[in-house]
Amino acid sequence: MLSRVELLQLARQAALRAHCPYSHFRVGAALVAGDQIFTGVNVEISSYGLTLCAERSALAAAISAGASPVTQVAVACIDTPPEAPANERTPCGACRQWLADLAPQATIYIDGIAEDFTIDKLLPYAFGL
Ligand code: THU
Repeated sequence: MLSRVELLQLARQAALRAHCPYSHFRVGAALVAGDQIFTGVNVEISSYGLTLCAERSALAAAISAGASPVTQVAVACIDTPPEAPANERTPCGACRQWLADLAPQATIYIDGIAEDFTIDKLLPYAFGL
């Protein structure tokens, strides 16, 4: 188990590796799965709609390594100004669904927001099979 501060720091560091030549909006995610840590960044390509967000990038890395369960997730949008509203730092809808499916019990830390979340709060009445 890492502290909120430690995991957010890893997310901010990861965001420095974001591949976002179109939006120039760098996002990093760091998560704990089992006893391992995984990071992810947003990856943009020329067909913009196929962009992969940082959260899904990190979750895919954990799944690919066979690590579970995901217990903590940190997200950092390092180009969001400090005074910007919460919606400029919270996970997008697609990532919330991924979190609902793959990290249902995780504590979620969002850089610049003091509150800790679980996905139930961010995505009430989520779809699931
Ligand atoms: N982005 C993320 O990586 N995670 C989110 O939850 C929201 C948006 C990325 C996608 C795109 O590369 C950039 O931020 C601007 O939308």
